[in-house]
Amino acid sequence: MGFLTDSTHLHITTWVIALILFFIAATGITKSKAVHMVLRLFYILVLVSGGALFFQWRVNYEYDIKFLLGILLIGMMEMILVRQKKNKPAGLFWALFAIILFATLFYGLKLQMGFDLF
Ligand code: HEM
Repeated sequence: MGFLTDSTHLHITTWVIALILFFIAATGITKSKAVHMVLRLFYILVLVSGGALFFQWRVNYEYDIKFLLGILLIGMMEMILVRQKKNKPAGLFWALFAIILFATLFYGLKLQMGFDLF
């Protein structure tokens, strides 16, 4: 499955699109439910592309942290959208989303594959 694991480009593409869809859904620019539906499809693509990198390249525990952070971030996006739909406060989850997003980007860019900024 070289196209999944030869580079991080596919993974990056999937999570960038997921984040854009999340912000479109969260800001309520459109009332369409389709955005949230497509976002859920992209959760799976992010998971598959990230999971493939993980199983191919994991060399230390930092990869486990990256894996966990990625999954938690998806969890936060889903919590925010579902709570908004139910008109419940989502402030706590926005705070967690911001912190976990930062940590996920940091670990992703720190690990050996692809871009290595930190
Ligand atoms: C929306 C959620 C996610 C974001 C924003 C994100 C972000 C990133 C970033 C910035 C990179 C570095 C790419 C590069 O250096 O070229 C990366 C790589 C990676 N991600 Fe994710 N990711 C997410 C979800 C996931 C999930 C769910 C998993 C696991 C199932 C995962 C596993 C990995 C792995 C194993 C790498 C390669 C690490 C390396 O050696 O550079 N990611 N991700």
